Amino acid sequence: MNKFPIGIFDSGIGGLTIANAISKELPNENIIYFGDTKHLPYGEKSNKSIQLFSKDIVDFLLLKKCKAIVIACNSASAIASNTVKNKVKNIPVFNVIDPVVKEISEKFSNYNIGVIGTKATIQSKVYEKKINKKCPNAKVSSLATPLLAPMIEERFINEEISHTVIANYLSNKKLKNIDTLILACTHYPLIYNEIKSYYKNEVTVINSTKIISKHISSSLKELNMLNNNPKTKYQFYISNYTKEFERSAKLFFKQDLILKEKDLNL
Ligand code: DGL
Repeated sequence: MNKFPIGIFDSGIGGLTIANAISKELPNENIIYFGDTKHLPYGEKSNKSIQLFSKDIVDFLLLKKCKAIVIACNSASAIASNTVKNKVKNIPVFNVIDPVVKEISEKFSNYNIGVIGTKATIQSKVYEKKINKKCPNAKVSSLATPLLAPMIEERFINEEISHTVIANYLSNKKLKNIDTLILACTHYPLIYNEIKSYYKNEVTVINSTKIISKHISSSLKELNMLNNNPKTKYQFYISNYTKEFERSAKLFFKQDLILKEKDLNL
C-alpha cells in the first residue's frame, strides 16, 4: 500500500501548487496528478457538473491504485468533498479547505477574515460555515474574484495588468476591514507576493499550500502510509492537452515528466 501513489486532482494548473508542496514535504511519494483542462474553469460550473467531473476523476485515480486522494481545487473541495468521500470509503480523502480552517481556528479565532476565490467557492459559503462553526467570534467576509484564475493561466503575473486587477478586487468594500486574507483558490499562491505587497504588511495573507501539505504529511504518517523508497515517479494526466500545461508542470517539477492526455469522456 505504501508505495502506491497519492492521487491529486484539479481543474488545471492550480493544483500543481499543492502537488509541488506535497512533493517537497514528502519527497519519497509517487504522485499521479489529474488536471481537468477540458472542463476548466470549475469555478464557473454548476454544482452538479463539478460533482460529476470529480467523481469520474476519482474513479480514474482509484483505477490507478492511488492510496490517498487530494482534491487540490478549492471549487471542487467546496462542492464535491462529500461526493468524493461517499465514493471513496477505504482510503483517505483530503481537501484544501479543512486544514486551512483548522489553522485559522487555532491561530486567528477573533479575527476579521477575508476570503477570495472562484464564484463556486464563494457562493458555497463553505469558509464562513466552517470557520464560524469553530470560532463564532471570527468575522468572515468573502469576495468572488473570478478574473484571477484565467489571468494566472494566461501568465499575467507581476505585471501592470495583474496589479490593476488585484487592486481592483482587494479594494472592494467587502474586504475593507480585514486583518487576515485566505487565498481560497489553488491558483492564487502564484500571485501571493503581489497580494502581499498590495497590503504592505497590514494584512496577514495566508498561503495555504504549506498548511495543506503539512496536514497531508502528518495524516499519512499517522496512518503509517508513507513510502520510504526515494525512487519516485510523477505522472501527469490532463483531459485536454495544452502546451501551457506542460510548460507549467515542467516549471514546478524540474525533471522529465510523464504527461499524457486522458479524456475521461465526460
Ligand atoms: N483551481 C480552481 C480552484 O481552486 C480555480 C480554477 C477553476 O475555476 O477551475 O478553485
